Amino acid sequence: MGIKVGIIGSGIVGQTLAKGFLKHGYHVTIGTNTASKREELRSKTDGKAAVGSFEDAAKFGEIVVVATKGTAAEAALKAAGITNLKGKTVVDTTNPIADAPPVNGVLQYFTSQNDSLMERLQALAPEAHFVKAFSCVGNAFMVNPDFNGVKPTMFICGNDDGAKGAVKTILDQFGFEVADMGKAEGARAIEPLCILWCIPGFLTNSWSHAFKLLKR
Ligand SMILES: NC(=O)c1ccc[n+]([C@@H]2O[C@H](COP(=O)([O-])OP(=O)(O)OC[C@H]3O[C@@H](n4cnc5c(N)ncnc54)[C@H](OP(=O)(O)O)[C@@H]3O)[C@@H](O)[C@H]2O)c1
Repeated sequence: MGIKVGIIGSGIVGQTLAKGFLKHGYHVTIGTNTASKREELRSKTDGKAAVGSFEDAAKFGEIVVVATKGTAAEAALKAAGITNLKGKTVVDTTNPIADAPPVNGVLQYFTSQNDSLMERLQALAPEAHFVKAFSCVGNAFMVNPDFNGVKPTMFICGNDDGAKGAVKTILDQFGFEVADMGKAEGARAIEPLCILWCIPGFLTNSWSHAFKLLKR
């Protein structure tokens, strides 16, 4: 029996990860805050994912994924029901991108250097086990990306080792090597990688890259 994953977020990241989880044998419910999007979401996940509200996704998931717009993440978790996240691994894909436009290709964040969105979400749902993941690569490369046989690095962090172990298993299936950047505060370094990742995109329309941590 596959593990049940609930995805809070109906955008391209939610859809892409839904397909990835289905491909790897998980059961998926994807949640949207907009009831009129449900039919379209069903067809975009080839009818294989159940579709519901943020709350339906949170209740369904043994593992929950947050994939909402950063500015909406706290409201989305409240709508999903904080108690529905209790004791669960919560994969946080979000980035704290402000509504203001990029400056010379550099995204603006609504968090500061000594803060992160994941820490805010963890504080909002203290009994959930947040793990930052999938935030530092474009959606086109989230599921078994092909970089000529080289596995990209996914930077993760979170306070609970069991939850990080569960996410490492997922990332192994999804074709990444994992670099564990410690506790929740590690998100202060991981979330800005999205700014770096996007600069070549905004400046030269180059979006086909991923990070690799070289070690010796
Ligand atoms: N796009 C990428 O390649 C990429 C890569 C890495 C990380 N990320 C991060 O992943 C997250 C999701 O990105 P995305 O590109 O899939 O889509 P997005 O447009 O950032 O988010 C879409 C989701 O946010 C919800 N949302 C937007 N405004 C809302 C509001 N005011 N109240 C409640 N919910 C609201 C939408 O609700 P509805 O369901 O009602 O539409 C939808 O579920 C973001 O935090 C982004 O920074 C994106």
